Amino acid sequence: MVLKVALIGSGAIGSRVAELLDAGAAPGAELTGVVPRGDTRTGFSFEAALELADVVVECAGVAAVEEFGPRLIAAGKDLLVTSIGALCDASLRKALLEDGPGRTFLTTGALGGLDAITAAGAGGTISRITVESRKLPAALIQPWMDGQTRADLLSATHAVELLRGGPSELIRAFPKSTNVVSALALAAGNWDVVQAVLIADPAAKQTSHHVRAETSLGTFDIRVSNEASPGNPASSALVPHAVVRGLKTLANASGSFI
Ligand SMILES: NC(=O)c1ccc[n+]([C@@H]2O[C@H](COP(=O)([O-])OP(=O)(O)OC[C@H]3O[C@@H](n4cnc5c(N)ncnc54)[C@H](O)[C@@H]3O)[C@@H](O)[C@H]2O)c1
Repeated sequence: MVLKVALIGSGAIGSRVAELLDAGAAPGAELTGVVPRGDTRTGFSFEAALELADVVVECAGVAAVEEFGPRLIAAGKDLLVTSIGALCDASLRKALLEDGPGRTFLTTGALGGLDAITAAGAGGTISRITVESRKLPAALIQPWMDGQTRADLLSATHAVELLRGGPSELIRAFPKSTNVVSALALAAGNWDVVQAVLIADPAAKQTSHHVRAETSLGTFDIRVSNEASPGNPASSALVPHAVVRGLKTLANASGSFI
């Protein structure tokens, strides 16, 4: 049976996922349509995705997860989320992960090692996870920053620590940098054990994440340095491939790491 896939969002990640699916990168999965932003009187619509797709992939942002996610799950569809930061919201998390009958899947996205952390959280205890993320200063400019702060950040000649704290501090100050910390909290099954350090580094050639998870079943030290997406310097080129890998597993798990 073919797994029918619809996408919400066709930016850097969504357009690459569409290309990969059309090229047959996920045998057993087929692209049914892409929900455009705004006017849906022509072309594919969210209602069409609801009717025709087996799984809907969100590649559009936190607001789209809030808008479409609960409706998909309530209708019994499966949802694959890229904007994992949306699950920082406890009520949305419940709607997506617990209410059913649809299922919510989370892409491994820009990270590695979530499988080991999930297994350790289920079979043991996790005492602490730290994640140090480094990005170019321009990728970390925020609307709340005043002119001087922005200018200082953009002209910095050395690395600057911008934040040290848990998911709630990160979400308030750097909402677009919450995917990785949310993914780690979800893998751990605990939002209190994750501590993030966010660094603006003018020398950063790639966005990098250094994760250290201390658990009763082992210590995992994971370093990931991602090439930027050609379509969006703030996004990682790996993410569409992680999405397609997930779809391939959903469609035909034989030979997959699960
Ligand atoms: N999990 C991870 O590791 C990870 C890594 C990178 C990015 N992401 C997330 O993936 C998402 C997409 O990233 P991107 O680089 O493709 O961004 P992008 O800005 O290039 O593209 C987003 C697209 O979604 C569209 N869109 C927004 N709201 C929509 C709606 N309601 N309906 C239909 N389309 C809508 C926009 O018009 C845009 O074309 C981001 O929210 C980002 O947080 C996750």
